[in-house]
Amino acid sequence: MRILSGIQPSGTLHLGNYFGMMKPAIELQEKGETFYFIADYHSMTSLFDAAERRKNTLEVALDFLACGLDPKRTVFFRQSDVPEVTELTWILGSLAPMGLLERCTSYKDKLAKGISPNFGLFAYPVLMAADILIYDSNIVPVGQDQKQHVEVTRDLAVKFNEAYGQTFIIPEPQIRAEVAKVPGLDGEKMSKSYGNTIEIFGDEKALRKKIMGIKMDSRTPQEPKPDADKNLAIQLLRLVAPAELAKGFEERLRAGGLGYGDLKKALFEHYWTHFSQARAKRAELASNLDEVGKILTDGASRARAIAQKVLQRAKSACGLAH
Ligand code: TRP
Repeated sequence: MRILSGIQPSGTLHLGNYFGMMKPAIELQEKGETFYFIADYHSMTSLFDAAERRKNTLEVALDFLACGLDPKRTVFFRQSDVPEVTELTWILGSLAPMGLLERCTSYKDKLAKGISPNFGLFAYPVLMAADILIYDSNIVPVGQDQKQHVEVTRDLAVKFNEAYGQTFIIPEPQIRAEVAKVPGLDGEKMSKSYGNTIEIFGDEKALRKKIMGIKMDSRTPQEPKPDADKNLAIQLLRLVAPAELAKGFEERLRAGGLGYGDLKKALFEHYWTHFSQARAKRAELASNLDEVGKILTDGASRARAIAQKVLQRAKSACGLAH
């Protein structure tokens, strides 16, 4: 069973990204043959700074490798290292009705935000379909917001198979359940666009300051707090500390007598320890970028071997090759 997903190179990853997307993706390595790539072609539809694209791509590679992506198990690569995918995008594009693409909510949302659309943004789901189909993928784990794009992919695969004969595997989306709601510093969902994030990696002092700044109410430490389970620091502590320990803090908060400052200090310590192994691994990789480059190039050549075969199959089917 081949599991494939693309990762947006959108800069520094935070706890919301980690618990929502990275950790589940890393766990899937046990469940099948995983293919993960950094979607740098997709990033071109909205990011127009070359240095930033290069930096974000490297950062996301370091983050995933540090957090447990195993390049022996996972074919890990840069999307643009397999240029065949753009050729398949063209082939699929001619089967994609304008109306189908115009109805994509993520496209419509961007228009509604006032973004002036380019051709790439419009064709975004077609490139994504090519990403998926070119590796004969069976399962595509994505967030709810990308489900419609996997449906477009299925539509295009069926259309191609009907027009030119059985060629593509019809992939299944696997929608990530919101297992852990990760609240940000202000209690809203943790998201870069809300500016309320806690990064996975970064400067200790700055991160401590962020955590100590988590929004609390003005009740005194002595007051019992019957709503202790809703406390932001408790919710975050549950993610980074052993369950028993988090439970203990919750009980103390509920009973009264635990100050918010002490609670946040404990949260910081556990958060820092939770990622200490990953932090060490990341530092090691960052001082050995040749190795990281090699991992991505090796992933690309494994991916490309498959992509070339499937593209050839598609080209023969539709009359572009023998
Ligand atoms: N569009 C996806 C996102 O924003 C990333 C992506 C690109 C992707 N190509 C893909 C995901 C193929 C799954 C399969 O998250």
